[in-house]
Amino acid sequence: KKKGFIFDLDGVIVDTAKYHYLAWKKIADSLNIEFTHEHNELLKGVSRVRSLDIILELGDVQTTQEQKELWLVQKNEEYLSYLVDMDESEILPGVLPVLNYLKENKQFIALGSASKNARPILEKTGILSYFDAIVDGNDVSNAKPDPEVFLIAAKLLNTSPSEAIVFEDSVAGVQAANIANMTSIGIGDDTILYEAQHNFKDFTFIGTPFLSELIEK
Ligand code: BG6
Ligand code: MG
Repeated sequence: KKKGFIFDLDGVIVDTAKYHYLAWKKIADSLNIEFTHEHNELLKGVSRVRSLDIILELGDVQTTQEQKELWLVQKNEEYLSYLVDMDESEILPGVLPVLNYLKENKQFIALGSASKNARPILEKTGILSYFDAIVDGNDVSNAKPDPEVFLIAAKLLNTSPSEAIVFEDSVAGVQAANIANMTSIGIGDDTILYEAQHNFKDFTFIGTPFLSELIEK
């Protein structure tokens, strides 16, 4: 059977979640807004614009659209500075074996990310060619937990939502997959991602028996 496997990017394929956090932390610190790792969970999977609004809400900061635009540019420049030397060593453990297994078994693979920086990251890490479709922050207007990004990805892969499987590290992304009626697989802490249908600490815990079961189901 041919299923559609949709991967989130940040925190699933590459460990960029830590860079997003550091870049937002710098903005938050400059505004004297307390911004912890716990707060950061709310931002995972969420668009850049929405992330800034959440941080400003945390600090009860009201400001102009112009000022917001400046902070958004500043955040992205800081974030991009962490990506300059990025290469395949930043691919998270276990990801390549899973991608290879899916390719060998002729499955469809898509990216479903909120990030506008997704393509350069796939290029830098050398894994662009694995993807039959790429849907990122430039293609969607509704941020996760809205299922738009995954629904577009499934459509491009020619698979129905019920034949699609989503790998996600964010609460918003797991919710989006569930709303889309796709199989949701949480990657990370299962006490945070408890809404996912399956959960693995990381990809090294996903064995080929589990993958072949998903394909045959
Ligand atoms: C998501 C990240 O993948 O992309 C978020 O989990 C990030 O932390 C969002 O804010 C948007 O990314 P970017 O690269 O367009 O700022
Ligand atoms: Mg993510």
